[in-house]
Amino acid sequence: MVNIATIKDTKTTSAEQTADSDGRIDEILSLFKGEEGELIPILQKVQLGFGYIPEKAITRVAKFIRVPEVTVFGVATFYSQFKLVPTGRNVVRVCRGTACHVRGGARILKEVERKLGIKPGESTSDLEYALETVACIGACALAPTMVVNNDTYGKMTTKKVSEVLNSEEQGE
Ligand code: FES
Repeated sequence: MVNIATIKDTKTTSAEQTADSDGRIDEILSLFKGEEGELIPILQKVQLGFGYIPEKAITRVAKFIRVPEVTVFGVATFYSQFKLVPTGRNVVRVCRGTACHVRGGARILKEVERKLGIKPGESTSDLEYALETVACIGACALAPTMVVNNDTYGKMTTKKVSEVLNSEEQGE
């Protein structure tokens, strides 16, 4: 899990943060043998633990599995599941597929952008939300749709955007 408290705590010194992130990377690496074939599973654990792949993790992983850093970097940038910058804890995905588009998907996206103050591919400054668009989530009958983390919302309206984001904030 991402330790948001660590990210948000402005009183934490950078030395403490470095030690903390080193410790967390050590913990992740201790789950593996150090083989080249483990690269993707290791990066998945790092992504899960930090919410992104920190630069330092690339160096550490490369040493651990004895491959050049550029190899690790190449894999981390090739797969869209890996992020190289911190991303929001809650991922909001708005569908941009044809069925959603013809039923007002663009208006839903605009409203989400307005409410969160970010564009697709960005995260809010408090790292609460990340916004993405998707081609189709396979629920076209419910168009227009959006997804927040694992929750799918259909027949969206601009009014419903506020309700959905508020309910997600309250953890409902
Ligand atoms: S096009 Fe949006 S769910 Fe299929």
